[in-house]
Amino acid sequence: MAIRMIVQHPDPVLRERAKEVTKFNANLHKLLDDLADTMYDARGVGLAAPQIGILKRAFVVDADGSGLIELVNPEIVLKEGEQFGPEGCLSIPGLQGDVRRARRVVIRGQDRYGNPVEYEGVDLLARAFQHELDHLNGVLFIDIAESVYERPPEPAEDGEGE
Ligand code: NI
Repeated sequence: MAIRMIVQHPDPVLRERAKEVTKFNANLHKLLDDLADTMYDARGVGLAAPQIGILKRAFVVDADGSGLIELVNPEIVLKEGEQFGPEGCLSIPGLQGDVRRARRVVIRGQDRYGNPVEYEGVDLLARAFQHELDHLNGVLFIDIAESVYERPPEPAEDGEGE
């Protein structure tokens, strides 16, 4: 378990498509542990492997009281409704943007042992799933935001970086 350095935009690693995970071994477990440690240290609600420089299709999310969710090789299988609101990213500190997302998603993938898993998210959790999946495809919120602006000062308790 370790806190890793978070890659910052415009590092090109954030623009690559991450590769499918095929080995559910100790390396993957360490990656997932480090992602969680680094996310909690930064008080984010999600963190994807490319954000610590590892181009594998894996991310962690903990949003809206979901508890820690680990997803490997995720894909969204259902998108429903719409939400529009501010979004930030731990790789782009100081900025946020208004991003249109599905309000509810169902996402499927694998856990750290390769077992199939499925989660449903609404509101912030759905937003986090969509944001983190974008990271695995080299997409950042600034690419799809309808406006990008400086993040207003906010109480430290309320970080929403992904
Ligand atoms: Ni992000």
